[in-house]
Amino acid sequence: MSGNVLEKFRLDGKTAIVTGASRGLGRAIAVAFAEAGADVAVAARTEAAIAETAEAVRSLGRRALAVACDVHSSASVASMVEGVVSEFGKVDILMNNAGGGDMRPLVDTDESEWMRIIDLNLNSTYRLCRAVGPHMIARRYGRIINMSSTYGLVGVKNVVPYCAAKGAIIQFTRALALEWAEHNISVNALAPGYFYTERTSRVFDDPTLGAKFTASIPAGRVGQNDELAPLVVYLASDASPYMTGSVIVIDGGITAA
Ligand SMILES: NC(=O)c1ccc[n+]([C@@H]2O[C@H](COP(=O)([O-])OP(=O)(O)OC[C@H]3O[C@@H](n4cnc5c(N)ncnc54)[C@H](OP(=O)(O)O)[C@@H]3O)[C@@H](O)[C@H]2O)c1
Repeated sequence: MSGNVLEKFRLDGKTAIVTGASRGLGRAIAVAFAEAGADVAVAARTEAAIAETAEAVRSLGRRALAVACDVHSSASVASMVEGVVSEFGKVDILMNNAGGGDMRPLVDTDESEWMRIIDLNLNSTYRLCRAVGPHMIARRYGRIINMSSTYGLVGVKNVVPYCAAKGAIIQFTRALALEWAEHNISVNALAPGYFYTERTSRVFDDPTLGAKFTASIPAGRVGQNDELAPLVVYLASDASPYMTGSVIVIDGGITAA
């Protein structure tokens, strides 16, 4: 590659799917993809919220598709991917962002909760990759980014199912990266520390809890969504053609300690 280095980060002409794009990090990533030039399919369960994210994408001059999708369901995922291919003609980028977990001691969980968290984070990543894989392989192009967490790298008390699921996403990413490297499809994982979203606001807006969590961050503050988005654009773009099977930590120094 040659030319202006910043041009390599452009996503003009690319199409992306972002799951969990109704709010939080997913919404910020969808908007960042659009700012970089991509058309974006915005997938989550809450129709009014995905319509709003889609409108934010359109206001940047890009095409947007709001698709109601429950990542717990293979049928819902398959139909969403088919709809995106039919509307946009292709899928270049898949951001597997939908996910989450609860804080609860393991002895207070039941098996259905364990299954739900593993399914929401890990099985959904499988479902999305399985659905876009044949299409990307046929086109010999793909950029897949799986949302793990620093909780997938280090153990944290009272979050065992979430830690297990996010850790498994890292191994899923590495193994699939090997399998699909020959098809020119990169598969990388992101491991963010604490970012301020609707989900984490419950912690960071609470004076006692917020102070406790902030004290654990060497940077001395929670991350903001627009501090994650440029890294995702990098992984989604042709600025990173040699990057696959990697786990990128962005955590204000937490795991350096
Ligand atoms: N925020 C952090 O500090 C942090 C740190 C590390 C990793 N992460 C990871 O980053 C991702 C986003 O986190 P966030 O803080 O932005 O979370 P959030 O604010 O709770 O947003 C979660 C998103 O996932 C969607 N979602 C949830 N269940 C879904 C389902 N069954 N099907 C489809 N979409 C679903 C939600 O939309 P609907 O409810 O409308 O479906 C929403 O758009 C998660 O994977 C999380 O584990 C976050």
